[in-house]
Amino acid sequence: MAGGVFSVNGDGKNFNGRLTASVIITCIVAASGGLIFGYDIGISGGVTTMESFLRKFFPSVLRKMADTKRNEYCVYDSQVLTSFTSSLYIAGLVASLMASHVTKAMGRQATMLIGGATFFAGAAINGAAVNIEMLILGRILLGFGVGFTNQATPIYLSEMAPPKWRGAFNTGFQLFIGVGVVASNLINYGTTHIHGWGWRLSLGLAAVPATIMTLGALLITDTPSSLVTRGKLQQARLALSRIRGSGSDIEAELTDLVHSNKISRSVTEVPFKNILKRRYRPHLVMSIMIPFFQQLTGINVIAFYAPILFQTVGFGNNSALMAAVILGLVNLGSILVSTFFVDRYGRRFLFLEGGIQMIICQVAVACVLGAKLGVSGEGSLSKGYSILVLVLMCFYAAGFGWSWGPLSWLVPSEIFPMEIRPAGQSISVGVNFVTTFVLAQTFLTMLCHFKYGTFLFYAGWITIMTGFVAGFLPETKGIPLDSMNSVWEQHWYWRRFVEETKPTNLP
Ligand code: BGC
Repeated sequence: MAGGVFSVNGDGKNFNGRLTASVIITCIVAASGGLIFGYDIGISGGVTTMESFLRKFFPSVLRKMADTKRNEYCVYDSQVLTSFTSSLYIAGLVASLMASHVTKAMGRQATMLIGGATFFAGAAINGAAVNIEMLILGRILLGFGVGFTNQATPIYLSEMAPPKWRGAFNTGFQLFIGVGVVASNLINYGTTHIHGWGWRLSLGLAAVPATIMTLGALLITDTPSSLVTRGKLQQARLALSRIRGSGSDIEAELTDLVHSNKISRSVTEVPFKNILKRRYRPHLVMSIMIPFFQQLTGINVIAFYAPILFQTVGFGNNSALMAAVILGLVNLGSILVSTFFVDRYGRRFLFLEGGIQMIICQVAVACVLGAKLGVSGEGSLSKGYSILVLVLMCFYAAGFGWSWGPLSWLVPSEIFPMEIRPAGQSISVGVNFVTTFVLAQTFLTMLCHFKYGTFLFYAGWITIMTGFVAGFLPETKGIPLDSMNSVWEQHWYWRRFVEETKPTNLP
């Protein structure tokens, strides 16, 4: 296997095994790219329960709420309201497909910069919105921003991190998503008391995380491998000396990078076509299935609609928002658990444990809702049962927070060889957005029609994905990026694809 930025070279030396302060700071700054995504996820759910927002843009939902004989599962079932939330994801999909060319041609850092600036513009338009058109335009810009940053940040982190700590570094992205979710939930909690324009503040404040990440992106250097790919050898040398510190063998690492790049160039040129080749089948399957499954855990429908959901199951408006904050904090804590364990116990262990935990919680929530709200949705939940639902949801959020949350960004960012990395990551982010869109668009209708069965639906999917991980996902912990092919070569199923069709020009 060819050596590369993360590889152990011919004489067994691991070039970038050192953990320097510079690489840590650089990666923390980069991971803040997750902030804007998290802020958005958390803000929309709360804003769509604010009366002044609904009165201005979605009066039909308010009328339905006033109907005293309402069915608790169906109050918020409005396609227009849902399209407010999900329009971002369609824009994100388009952006992530474009972003693969941008990351390849301009680098990871520039892509993050473009993402931050676009998100900023979206936040400003949303905060100032006077009609639904402005609202949707703002969300489209936010979507573009998130599409670009989600493409570039995870790759950036995996390319920068020493292999031994790659998992921990990469969970930083999800950690910042979590911070964004909690911050936005808290902001909603405050702004909901500001009558008339609280929603403007919630939407407009998205400019703050956008500024943080844009300024951050200006301060960091691009990854050495991206610089080498773009022929900027001198800058790559500088970047290496900055992040590896004095005393490391920068020239040897650079030579190795150039060598890897030559090999990947001989294979590449049309990345989206290349990834369809038989030898990249495991990569293609993972780039699609991992984000698809991540969404089918049901996490977003819970994150987007947590306040609505808690209101639906009997919490008041304020306590519903607070319940969403609690859920966010639990999620945040659990991501840290992942940071500590992902490079110790590996990805598979966390995936399997988290999966089982989520299944149990979803089934239990379905049982409580089924027994108490009933099929008609006209029953009600006592305070005790509402708290039980919250506790179960917290266990569910913790399970997600140390498994499918961070790992769905980590695994795709580490399994692709250089020549298909931008394309693979694009597919992965794109699938994430499409699936999020479809689920967000259908969730409230599903809740209205399937009622508590909605939770069983997700439990069923988590069972399938847990089986998928058990059978098909190899362990990638600690393996240098350029040696990753070995995990497929040794896999009981995937080896038939990678071995038989190994390109002749690869050593
Ligand atoms: C997912 C998002 C989700 C978030 C929740 C991310 O990893 O991709 O869709 O909303 O985690 O914290």
